[in-house]
Amino acid sequence: MASEKTFYLETFGCQMNAHDSEKVIGTLRQQGYRQVESEEEAGLILYNTCSIRDKAEQKVFNRLNDYKALHKAGKRFGVLGCVAQQEGEKIFERAPYVSLVSGSASYRKLPEMLSRLESGENRITGLDDRQTEETFETEFTARQNPYRGYITIIEGCDKFCAYCVVPYTRGKERSRTSDSVLEEARRIAGMGYTEIQLLGQNVNSYLDPEGKRSFAELLLAIAEVDGVRRVRFMTSHPRDFTKDIVEAIDAEPRLCDHVHLPVQSGSARVLKMMAREYTPDWYLERISWIRAAKRKISISTDIIVGFPGETPDDFIQTMDLLAEVQYDCVFGFKYSARPNTPALTMIDSIPDQEKSRRLQVLLDRQREVQRANYSRHLGEVLEVMVEGHNPARGQVTGRSSQNKPVNFSWTDPILPAPGSYLQVKIVATHPNSLVGEPI
Ligand code: 5AD
Ligand code: SF4
Repeated sequence: MASEKTFYLETFGCQMNAHDSEKVIGTLRQQGYRQVESEEEAGLILYNTCSIRDKAEQKVFNRLNDYKALHKAGKRFGVLGCVAQQEGEKIFERAPYVSLVSGSASYRKLPEMLSRLESGENRITGLDDRQTEETFETEFTARQNPYRGYITIIEGCDKFCAYCVVPYTRGKERSRTSDSVLEEARRIAGMGYTEIQLLGQNVNSYLDPEGKRSFAELLLAIAEVDGVRRVRFMTSHPRDFTKDIVEAIDAEPRLCDHVHLPVQSGSARVLKMMAREYTPDWYLERISWIRAAKRKISISTDIIVGFPGETPDDFIQTMDLLAEVQYDCVFGFKYSARPNTPALTMIDSIPDQEKSRRLQVLLDRQREVQRANYSRHLGEVLEVMVEGHNPARGQVTGRSSQNKPVNFSWTDPILPAPGSYLQVKIVATHPNSLVGEPI
């Protein structure tokens, strides 16, 4: 068994990274590797990394450092993903025991990189593909999520927001053909997946290279695939958010009633410095389209506080926007300066303490908004897709179509399977979750 090829893979960062890992795992298996559960058991140790904020990349270097002694036992290390692309060959300087460094735009070449690794080569890189038109497609995806099938429809990003590393780490925007997306949707629906989540850094910037379907048309086509009961998509960019997306959701109940639409700031001045290329009014017009739908569509967002030059008044404008939209969920972040980005040249003069204060004010206020929003579900009967269960609490966990967590107690020794659907009556509400009883 000494020659058996084994790997351990740990993933950091976003949904896109989690799904890239599913494709990487599938590719490795296809190359004869077996996945193991710990660094100690593995011949090849891989980290699929994230660099969106500074602590994210530090985590990777800490992890590498924790296990570097294993190198002496003959184990090989590879760094994949956004930190790999961002730091490139510098990783070999900082962690000389690493043999492979590859960004996501080069994963198509993994089989070739792996065979070079096996032949004993060191310092193998996949870093030169950021201008590629090609996407990473594989039929071998090793889906790890038992109830949600991810499909990447667009890779990369061409928006170049001033704070963001993604255009530098994931390369230019490129879409798959809608035919190939539909084929994958049919394939995974055939495997039993009833919920499909379409992924892209800017999922709604999708542009079918064959020109057959718009993004909204693709959503509708996926919803009609046999066996599909729920379709989600993440993340939408306000600049490409068109009315036909709302019309599609309104017309097709299998399209989940949830839109994640990052606003980043409520101040026109800050949005301009961020190069978001919209104003708060322009963003709020998109929100008004969503609000005008016949179905109640849940809205969530991302917000950055403490962007260079954000004044207390700018921050108040963000709070005003929050009060106006009444989001169901807000991911708030303190600005952190990232390599290569235009914002790096701006003076990051707001003390960390003040950034933390603004973030806390924002999250506290948002909690109250959510408390009120979630309480409106009291007494409703919602369809919940089961995701898992919490044995300590004797509870089953799942999500509503609006993406809200729903927990309910379960006494039967036979648990409902992840991916099954139940009707649940909401009997209590919290700011971040709903409590129900199955009916
Ligand atoms: N600092 C803080 N937050 C950031 N984000 C992206 N880049 C940065 C940065 N440099 C946030 C944005 C984005 C989310 C995924 O992460 O809000 O929408
Ligand atoms: Fe992290 Fe962004 Fe890369 Fe996702 S795309 S892994 S969030 S840096």
